[in-house]
Order: sequence, then structure tokens, then C-alpha cells
Amino acid sequence: MLEIGEDGRTWLLSGPASSYALRLGEDDALLHLHWGPRIALADAEALAAGPGPEYWAFEATLDGHEEYPVEGGPRFVRPALSVRTDERRGTEWSFETYEADGDELRLRFSDSGLGITLHYRMRAGTDVVERWVTLANEGPALEVLRADSAAWTLPHRDGWRLSQLHGRWAAESRLVRSELTYGEKIIGSRRGHTSHQHLPWVALDADGSATEERGEVYGCALAWSGTWRIAVAQLPDARVQITGGVGYDDSGLLRLEPGESFVTPVFAGLWSDGGFGGASRAWHAYQHAYVIPDADEHRPVLYNSWEATEFDISEEQQGALARRAAAMGVELFVVDDGWFGARTSDRAGLGDWTPNPDRFPAGLKPLADEVHALGMQFGIWVEPEMVNPDSELYRAHPDWVQFQPGRKRTELRNQLVLNLAREDVQEYLWEQLDTLLSSAPIDYVKWDFNRCFTDAGWPGEDYPQRLWVDHVHALYRLLDRLRAAHPGVAFESCSGGGGRIDLGIMARTDQVWTSDNTDPLDRLAIQHGFSQVHPARAMAAWVTDSPNNQLNGRASSLRFRFVSSMAGVLGVGGDLTRWSDEELAEARTWVELYKEIRPVVQGGDLHRLRAPEGGLSAVQYSRDGEIVVLAWLQAQHYGEPVAPVRLRGLDPAATYECLETGEVHRGAVLLHHGLRTGLRGDLDAAVFRLRRM
Ligand code: GLA
Repeated sequence: MLEIGEDGRTWLLSGPASSYALRLGEDDALLHLHWGPRIALADAEALAAGPGPEYWAFEATLDGHEEYPVEGGPRFVRPALSVRTDERRGTEWSFETYEADGDELRLRFSDSGLGITLHYRMRAGTDVVERWVTLANEGPALEVLRADSAAWTLPHRDGWRLSQLHGRWAAESRLVRSELTYGEKIIGSRRGHTSHQHLPWVALDADGSATEERGEVYGCALAWSGTWRIAVAQLPDARVQITGGVGYDDSGLLRLEPGESFVTPVFAGLWSDGGFGGASRAWHAYQHAYVIPDADEHRPVLYNSWEATEFDISEEQQGALARRAAAMGVELFVVDDGWFGARTSDRAGLGDWTPNPDRFPAGLKPLADEVHALGMQFGIWVEPEMVNPDSELYRAHPDWVQFQPGRKRTELRNQLVLNLAREDVQEYLWEQLDTLLSSAPIDYVKWDFNRCFTDAGWPGEDYPQRLWVDHVHALYRLLDRLRAAHPGVAFESCSGGGGRIDLGIMARTDQVWTSDNTDPLDRLAIQHGFSQVHPARAMAAWVTDSPNNQLNGRASSLRFRFVSSMAGVLGVGGDLTRWSDEELAEARTWVELYKEIRPVVQGGDLHRLRAPEGGLSAVQYSRDGEIVVLAWLQAQHYGEPVAPVRLRGLDPAATYECLETGEVHRGAVLLHHGLRTGLRGDLDAAVFRLRRM
């Protein structure tokens, strides 16, 4: 809901629980008034009547109060907008007009022909405010050094704690919290993709006082899949501002010729007083409603052959795996890397998206048909943004990659990055992929991205830096175009595991590959971090072999591996030809159980009951009176009994029947005393289904 003050200079956006207010002040300064619990327009106007900004020699009182600090004038904060022409640098804007268009508020400013529009939209039914900026240049050519999507201002509190998700390959989205101190904390990626190192999300709670179930939490998440930066600044007067947007450095993003424009990605913000858990549930609900395509359709159980076969694949062997997968109840069979071009190792073939004639003499169709005849959907792996120097594509077009003339072309995993900013490259990829998807009944595409940008040059182009931004836009357009032309095909975003997970890619894919780390114990921490912002509906998790052959050799039971993976979109990725009949039969019962709980796991509300740092961890999903609890025990010590797990969000006056044990539990007892899990020993796990009676 959007309300506007009588003088047309105060705006108030409100969701079910929160409000966001801003005001056009003197000299067309756009001032932040409020972000937090729901308030009335009269409250916003009372805030607006407070003292205006003052300046003195060493402080700018505008700092920390502006909605979008531009460069120049009495400001010492990091500018959200920095532009320059041949003559001058910075911005002195004047307000032009505002437009209220449904839920969206647009505020238009201009400076010497540059139109700057700030967009605000509180998504209906949520407390998520989406903010972005449009720059439309009608003046002389200018260079955009920085154009953040938004600056978020937090209310004055005595101190703040910052939560972030950090990591590296095979160790993504690990949650850390630390006290915020004066100065700036910067996270981001200068790698060309979202990165394994940081997810573009932060959360802040006042005085470190929030818990999983209680307290005020502010969160911000950026919808961008390339290079990015989020800066959390505690200013000299202790106020906190968070800026975020495209690009890591402020050394130039793009050039806008007269008539050109640039729209930043959305930087979404959320306020919740339901603690970290409440904030996560609000993020999840927002993504279900507005980000993830067809989020109310449940994702199928998939089988992926990568860990079983790596590059050594054949039609016959994939068929044998498919028959075992089908017997287990798998619904989607995915052939990973190695089916195309001369791709028998990671040294060759990327770029040539036609089936390898030795391996698939009649193309992919016979295997796809066999998979369909087994009752499963058929999927394939691709990595379209890359090329191996040993490929037909590279031999034909060595200039289609990102490179700097006279410099080495850095190979990582023996591959180079295609320059997707080039229209000929875009058209080639479209044709290749459109043909591929038309050549066989393909239902699913795992879209990978397995190296960072290093030599992001574009010889012959006047302003090569733009490829950082153009690459992402080209990727988005390609995905959008493929989805439109092949509406039955689902896409997974992968980047060596979880290197490209953000709201931008999630709006164009159906699920994400969370991590190449399929060790079920490590996964609990990775999934715990992932769930801070993204929902289980998008989080792919596979059961693989034991001992874990990719990473650490850890042995674990099928039970532990399945229950770990059942917390998201279940998949199986082990070498099924080596699983015993007993293991296959057991796996089948787990897959059956997963299908029963799937509507609750993929569509329900998540409560993290216990974090994985302790020996015992548990999550709960609830939907329409159906409850699913997944619990894991890392190691039991001293023979001590394992603590019961307290459930959340139940009706204390109701009773719940446990389908596993047949026991009937009182809601109040489950809430205050908990559910006994019976877990013991090392790496034990259990699933409980409870139904409200
Ligand atoms: C990446 C992915 C893996 C697998 C390989 C194939 O590392 O994350 O799941 O697809 O590429 O080369």
C-alpha cells in the first residue's frame, strides 16, 4: 500500500507488518524518515516535521539521512551514484515529479539532461521493499562510475550486529555474525559471477539482540548475478547505511550516450520483528510469490550422474543408471558433463553443444526416449558461457572470448570465458541451445558456470568495461528467450556448486545447485546458511556415495544422507550400479517418504529448530496443519541422552499425531518440552511427520 502526504512530498509504503517512509526536503534532498514497524501517514508527517539537515565544516548532517546519496556537495559518505562527463563530475539534481503506479512509487530527478528515477515497490502481501534506479541520459555522453540500486538507512540504535553468508568452493553460504563497528564492511564479488565467497545478502539486528524467533531484523538482498558490492557503513554519528549494486570497484561501469539508459537490478529490503527465523520466512514467502517461476509446482526428485561417472559416459551406461534410478522412484534423470563435442575430460569440448557421435551416435533422443519410457523426465548439463581452446568453436572464433590484446589468456579449468556482450556470441548461443532443446525431448537443463572472469577485455570496443554488466544482461536475456521458446523446460543455476545464487538468477531458474559438497554433514551448515534467505523449494541436494568420494571420505548411513538431502529438493547422485539390492530398496523407501512430505518441505514454512553447530540440529516445515521435522545428530557424547527438540509455530491447544510412532502429542508440550527424537551414536537422523488432529 502506498500513501502520499497532502503536499505531495511525503510517501509511505506499508506491508502487513512494516512501513517505509521518505520525504522530499529542502533543496530537493530526498530524506529517509522510517523503516520498521507499521506506522500511519500522520506518524511519517510528524517525523518529517523534525529538524532539517545542517552543515558545518567537518560534518554533513545530510549523511546518513538521504535515500540515495549522490556524489558531490556536502556529503562524505560513499556515494550511491557517481557519474562524470568530459567537463564535470558528480550530481546536483532537481526534483521533477513523482508517479504512483499501483504499488510502485517513482521519484524523478534530473541533472543536466540525466534523468534519475528512484523506484520503490512494497510487494503486495509481503514486507519486502524492492528498490532500483533508472538512469536515462538525454544530455551529453557520460560515464557511470557507480550506480547503486539503493541506500538503506537503519534507525538509531546503540549498536548493530551483522549477519553474512561467506564461503568458498564446496563450502558456500556459511553464516557468521559479528558486531558492526565504525567504518565500512564490504562484501561482494569481482569475479564476474555472484561467487561462492559471499551471497549478496546481509542482515542486521540491533544490539545483537535478535534470536531465531524474536527481535527486529533488517535484511537486504541484491538481485544480480555478476560482479557486485554491498557496503554496510556505520557512520560517525553511529547511523548505519547499506548501499548495494552492480560492480565491485567504482572504476567505471558503463557509458551512456545521449538517448541511452541503464536500469539497476533490484536491491530488496525487509524488516521483520520475528527474529532471524521470521525474517527468513518472509524472504521465502516473497521468493515464492514474486521471484521463483511457478513456485507452487513441486520440484521432482532427480538423479544426476556426475559423481557416478564424471566424464566417462556412454548411452548404455546412462541407460543402466536410469533403469536403477527409475526403480528407486526418481522422477527426472539428468546426464551431466561429457555428452557433447569432444568432451571426454575438462580439457576439450566446451562450446560445441552437439552430442558426441562416439557416445551418442543417434544424438540424445534415444536416451531421452528410454528415460521417458521409464516414466522419468530427461535433463542435460550445459555450460554455455564458456569455451575450451580445444573446441571447434574456439578454432573458428578465437576472438569471441574475453581477452586483453598482448596479454596471456588465463585458463582456469582449461577454459576461457566467452564474451557474451558480443551480439554474435549471443546469437550463436541462442541458436545452439534452441536447436539442442528442439533436437530431443529435453525437460531440464543444468546451466553451469565453472570459472571466474580474469582477463575481461574486449579488443576493438571503445568501452570494454561494459562487458561486466552486459554479460549478465545477455545471460538473463538468453535464459528468458529459451524459457519463452521452450516453456516445458526447467532450468537449474549451477556455478561449480553454489557460485551463482541470487535473486536475479532465481527469477529465471527453477532451482539452484547448492554446493558441490555433497557430504551430508557439511551440507547441514551450508543448508542452514542458504535457508537464511532462500527457500527449500529452490535448494537442490543429492544423496551420493559413502564414503564421500569427492571431498572427505566420510562414511555415513543412507539414512543420514537421505534425511540431510530431504531438507531441500531431493536428488540422488551416487553410483547406483554399485549400490546393493538392500541399499536400492532402502533408497526407494526414502524417496517414497520424501514424495509424501514434499508439499510441506517445498511449500511450507521453515523453522530452524536447532542450528548445526551443536551436536543436534533440526528443522521443521509446516503447512496446513501438517508438520515435518528433520533431525540430525552429529555425535553423542558421554552416553548422555539427546535433548528433545522443541517445535515452533504450533497451536498449543491442539493435539498432533505422529505418523512415525503413532503417538499423540499435545501442542503445548511439543512447544515447551519438545519431541524426543531417539537419535543416538554418530551421524544419526530421523524424520517425523505430525498431523494436527
Ligand atoms: C561443476 C558442477 C558439478 C558438475 C561439474 C561438471 O563443478 O558443480 O556438479 O556438473 O561441473 O563438469
